[in-house]
Amino acid sequence: MGHRGAAASAPENTLAGIRKAAAFGASWVEFDVKLTADRIPVLMHDDSLQRTTGDGRPAADVSLAEMKRLDAGSWFAADFAGETVPTLKETLVLLLELGMAANIEIKPSPGEDAETVTRTIAVLEQVWPGSASTSTPAPLMSSFSLESLKTLQEQSPNLPRGYLIEELPEDWQAVAERLGCATIHHYAKAVTAAQVAETKAAGYGLAVYTVNDPDQARELIDWGIDCLITDAPDVIARAIA
Ligand code: G3P
Ligand code: MG
Repeated sequence: MGHRGAAASAPENTLAGIRKAAAFGASWVEFDVKLTADRIPVLMHDDSLQRTTGDGRPAADVSLAEMKRLDAGSWFAADFAGETVPTLKETLVLLLELGMAANIEIKPSPGEDAETVTRTIAVLEQVWPGSASTSTPAPLMSSFSLESLKTLQEQSPNLPRGYLIEELPEDWQAVAERLGCATIHHYAKAVTAAQVAETKAAGYGLAVYTVNDPDQARELIDWGIDCLITDAPDVIARAIA
């Protein structure tokens, strides 16, 4: 699964990055979704637009029209100048064209945990066809925000949910069960073989983010994980071939 598209080779959370992940052979792509000031779901990791566009304002304070005027590619490399912040809708249309599956990470700006979900589901209902009309799997919805996961469970229970974890909490299983999660997403810098065994034995699909080191990729596969989320799908695909 390409992380933020293919973040080692193209600016993160852009359509260019998603095309790059597809070209590298990734079958899935992960990206981060938050809302503009006018409540449109867009792809953006940070609360502030500074790092990826040079505009110091919070994404939550900027309208889509204004955001679309920003250059979200030049910070990464001159070749990507003019790349814009994509809407979720534009992204889903591209993924359907490419036949790629989506891991939509709900990354709410402060206080927007529920609304980010509501607005995201509205876009999905508009754009994503039912399972009968596409062979692409339904989007996997993940979040660190338990409130966002709960809102997903209430408002769109049939979409699979992924529980994003940094340090595996003691009560992880109770939380995952209560929120009806299908997958656990472990942090590559913290996960242990014992945690993989424990979460796998409980019946969850396991993803690990962000795995860019070929040796770690092979080790994690030996441990039994199901999905590597990587900035470098080209490197990791070669490593595990
Ligand atoms: O979804 C996996 C990973 O993207 C979570 O962390 O901060 O890179 O969005 P982050
Ligand atoms: Mg993410």
